[in-house]
Amino acid sequence: MWQVFHLYLYFPLLFWFSHLMLVYLYLFICRGGVSARACLIKKRNRRRSAAALRWASQYSACAPLLRFHRLLLANMAAPALSSRAGSAGSSPTATPNSTKLVPHSPELDFRSGTRIEELNRLIAEFSKHEQREYDDQRALEIHTAKDFIFSMLGMVQKLDQKLPVANEYLLLSGGVREGVIDMDLDELTVYARGADYDMDFTLLVPALKLHDRNQPVTLDMRHSALCHSWLSLRLFDEGTINKWKDCCTVVDHVNGATNYFFSPTLVADWFYESISMVLAEIQKKPQRGVPRVEKVERNATVISIILGVGGSRMLYDVVPVVSFKGWPAVAQSWLMENHFWDGKITEEEVISGFYLLPACSSTGQKENEWRLSFARSEVQLKKCISASLMQAYQACKALIIKLLSRPKAISPYHLRSLMLWACDRLPHTYLAQEDYAAHCLLGLIDDLQHCLVNKTCPNYFIPQCNMLEHLSDDMAMLHARKLSSVRSDPAEHLRSAIEHAKAASRLTLELQWRGGSSNLSSPLSDTGADQQPDDRLAKKLQQLVTENPGKSISVFINPDDVTRPHFRIDDKFF
Ligand SMILES: *[C@@H]1O[C@H](CO)[C@@H](O)[C@H](O)[C@H]1NC(C)=O
Ligand SMILES: *[C@@H]1O[C@H](CO)[C@@H](O)[C@H](O)[C@H]1NC(C)=O
Ligand SMILES: *[C@@H]1O[C@H](CO)[C@@H](O)[C@H](O)[C@H]1NC(C)=O
Ligand SMILES: *[C@@H]1O[C@H](CO)[C@@H](O)[C@H](O)[C@H]1NC(C)=O
Repeated sequence: MWQVFHLYLYFPLLFWFSHLMLVYLYLFICRGGVSARACLIKKRNRRRSAAALRWASQYSACAPLLRFHRLLLANMAAPALSSRAGSAGSSPTATPNSTKLVPHSPELDFRSGTRIEELNRLIAEFSKHEQREYDDQRALEIHTAKDFIFSMLGMVQKLDQKLPVANEYLLLSGGVREGVIDMDLDELTVYARGADYDMDFTLLVPALKLHDRNQPVTLDMRHSALCHSWLSLRLFDEGTINKWKDCCTVVDHVNGATNYFFSPTLVADWFYESISMVLAEIQKKPQRGVPRVEKVERNATVISIILGVGGSRMLYDVVPVVSFKGWPAVAQSWLMENHFWDGKITEEEVISGFYLLPACSSTGQKENEWRLSFARSEVQLKKCISASLMQAYQACKALIIKLLSRPKAISPYHLRSLMLWACDRLPHTYLAQEDYAAHCLLGLIDDLQHCLVNKTCPNYFIPQCNMLEHLSDDMAMLHARKLSSVRSDPAEHLRSAIEHAKAASRLTLELQWRGGSSNLSSPLSDTGADQQPDDRLAKKLQQLVTENPGKSISVFINPDDVTRPHFRIDDKFF
């Protein structure tokens, strides 16, 4: 969907751009020391290995090996089983003959003694509860809330023309608190699904966009930590500089020139003020069918809005960002490595753009430092992640999110990086096996434990950047201990995560009954017949949403015509 609209709007530019960008890419690397020949060879090898990988998965070359591996595991588990009182019964007696295979003994997790089967069952049950079903009414409510947010942003644009006229937002399912983007959770008020909201989204709103460059984007990283950058407005035209001057910190050079650095905190100040103003305006003349604004709160640079629509409460975490087409020079080397997505999606899809988020490093200057974000690429990469691993990731996230996120240490974003690394490390044939969710879950916990103990968690796109650099030894040890208690009894922790998910759903249902949602069944029903196109759009979205439960939606919207947003729905990633 999105792509179609995108092409429709940007067709000539897009083609021209991606072509040129590739050329540039080569030039850049070659100048960086590696010869042109070496680049080409590397590229060719990569293709070949991707082809080999495809071949392997086609003929399941690894399957016998893996089966052998499983057999071994089963064999090793057998003595442990027979020594566990009470667990016997179904298991055949293990003879002293150690070479004898015991085909019927259930596979166990060495550390906890839990049956792998049971873990798989629990993960599946958890996924079932997490995957919220969208009925028609819910779909309409989502649509109404989304429309409201987009009209609101259109009004913010009109207010002072600071926002780009034709803008492109990225809407992700899951809030910032769920680790959808790499931002610190410590600064956010805690909200809980069920108690405070029913559905959560993150919306990245480009305050500035640099979409007309055809080269690897070189950022000013002289003053900032790795993976972070300052942004000088020198890259932009005079008009843009004048518009945004008041959201910049000013640095005077010795030669008399003045440099404006786009400030994340000042931009967030401005954004929050503008949004509050617009919302106050809207609430002055309430209309039927328009969502209730239940909360507007700003923590650090994130603006959280809770909307009540019919029987649902939607949490929108709105984040002002800077949007770039292309790929940053600092992440160029990542493109030269082999990756799990090779041959599955195109490079153009993966490196179509990146963002600067209003977040700084532990040592950086809050007023000037932005953080690189590859959210757009992550949405693409997710298409290549196996269902088993994805389920395991969601379950693992639920196990650790409360345990490890406070005091500030591990966020779900760390876990997601580990998952991406695992995809690169392990063959797809292994990760994609049915009933492998338990292995993936235990593996992710082990990976995380390793990260804590060694205090390293390399960013997936910029591996030189250690996302746990700031962690103190004490904090790392504290969290490692908590995590090892999870690892010792994953089943029990999963059961309580399931209970938690169940309770949240119950709360939502109760609130809907109490709220008498029966009469809010269609928030759009009171729009007149003159709104025919909107209705068609609503139907289309409704269809999209019901066909794709729990997925991310990418949106293109032109604030000059906020009535017609264009969107694409992706698998829920976060
Ligand atoms: C162990 O098993 C092997 C074959 O699997 C058999 O030849 C051997 O006699 C067995 N030894 C004992 C002590 O049962
Ligand atoms: C977040 O902001 C709200 C007001 O907007 C404030 O009441 C709350 O204490 C803040 N939370 C944190 C964790 O700073
Ligand atoms: C442990 O951390 C150091 C740097 O902190 C890193 O160089 C090393 O590769 C890490 N070890 C492993 C096994 O990841
Ligand atoms: C709900 O609305 C319908 C009409 O759409 C009306 O007939 C019904 O009485 C209303 N129920 C309540 C509880 O207000």
